[in-house]
Amino acid sequence: MSSNTKLAASIRAIADYPKPGIVFRDITTLLGDAAAFREAVDQLVAPYQGLGVDKIAGIEARGFILGGALAHQLSAGFVPIRKKGKLPHATVRIAYSLEYGVDEMEMHVDAVKPGEKVILTDDLIATGGTAEGAVKLLRQQGAEIVSACFVIDLPDLGGRAKLEALGVEVRTLVE
Ligand code: PRP
Ligand code: HPA
Repeated sequence: MSSNTKLAASIRAIADYPKPGIVFRDITTLLGDAAAFREAVDQLVAPYQGLGVDKIAGIEARGFILGGALAHQLSAGFVPIRKKGKLPHATVRIAYSLEYGVDEMEMHVDAVKPGEKVILTDDLIATGGTAEGAVKLLRQQGAEIVSACFVIDLPDLGGRAKLEALGVEVRTLVE
């Protein structure tokens, strides 16, 4: 089995979660498998070694788990992008839409400095609404988005194309 077939096999599909008709791709099984977690992190960081990345921005919640590991491997800082009302200091906020609803996300105003090189990460890109919101927040604060990376792409939902249309390179491991 190829390493990406193994990664795909380590991800669990849950029918009708969080709403009827949605098949939820659950990465907790990948995270709980030591070899799969290491393989996913190794593959995600490989293209970014030596680029002088300043920060990894991770999207709540599963982007925090991957983002912490990526930040460590790339000797970068970590920036949490959170659902509204969770961050203690002054924030910038943006509304966004996703596969099953609408919400608002926030980042601390001083989380990135103008010109810093940032990689955005999350477990999965579906419609791309969440990542698009995060890209806009980061760019508003002057970040240079080097790339966005995800373990899973749901290509039928168009998220990759949405980010690429914003001029963001997208890297994913499994479809
Ligand atoms: C999921 C996933 C991404 C987003 C992708 O998070 O982790 O952040 O949806 O969807 P999109 O590409 O259509 O925007 P979710 O909103 O379920 O939040 P959670 O991480 O707090 O569970
Ligand atoms: N898994 C995790 N997050 C998601 C999914 C999914 O299947 N679909 C949209 N966001």
